[in-house]
Amino acid sequence: MLSVIANWKMYLSLNESCDFLKSFFSQDLPLSKIELLIAPSFPIISIVKKHIGSQSCGLVAQNLCSEASGPFTGEVSGKMLSELGCSHVLVGHSERRILYCESDEIIRKKVNMALQYDLKPIVCVGESYEDYQKKRTSKTLAKQLKAISKLQSLWVAYEPVWAIGSGLVPSIDEIELAANNIKSICNADKVFYGGSVSLKNIDVLCQANGIDGYLVGGVSTKIDDFSQLLFKLSTL
Ligand code: PGA
Repeated sequence: MLSVIANWKMYLSLNESCDFLKSFFSQDLPLSKIELLIAPSFPIISIVKKHIGSQSCGLVAQNLCSEASGPFTGEVSGKMLSELGCSHVLVGHSERRILYCESDEIIRKKVNMALQYDLKPIVCVGESYEDYQKKRTSKTLAKQLKAISKLQSLWVAYEPVWAIGSGLVPSIDEIELAANNIKSICNADKVFYGGSVSLKNIDVLCQANGIDGYLVGGVSTKIDDFSQLLFKLSTL
């Protein structure tokens, strides 16, 4: 079954999330055909859980602290996320790597912390535009995955930095090559593609072999487009 992760980033406020969730879950969603997971920001996790109710939808945190507990003002621990009902956590999204200087070592610690608290880590990897142009994608993926290559029970999302929010996407061959690379380096249970996934390009993106699902950012906060995307994917 294809999986779709809605990465809401820091887009929807509490009130906006409630409005979204009310109409979103009032539809007859194809949740028996698509594995849906929602990644809201921290203060909205409980609200999403309440709206999910008994429906089949996973709850994903967007980040976690690399430490278990202690004087880390502003941080959120794996234990807290687990107790809130999260099943998964995004680790090493490029916005965290670039804007918050998260190193591969920090990401390794976060992945271990997630596993310790029964949260499945969804590790995000992907090359910069410069590395893409210089054909260093495989090298970048190998570097980003090295520290976690021996770990079990991971999901990995291939998200080229230049494709995120830009409307640009790699070619099918490039996506397939990246997915193969990821599977040859680490024990990923699933490999996702992320970066400008939309109704416009999903038909083409779906042609890539070796992709088990999609990590959707901007479009996942737009109820009509996101619902249509799910219905479309459920018929493939
Ligand atoms: P996008 O974001 O779909 O808005 O490009 C994807 C992501 O950053 O996870």
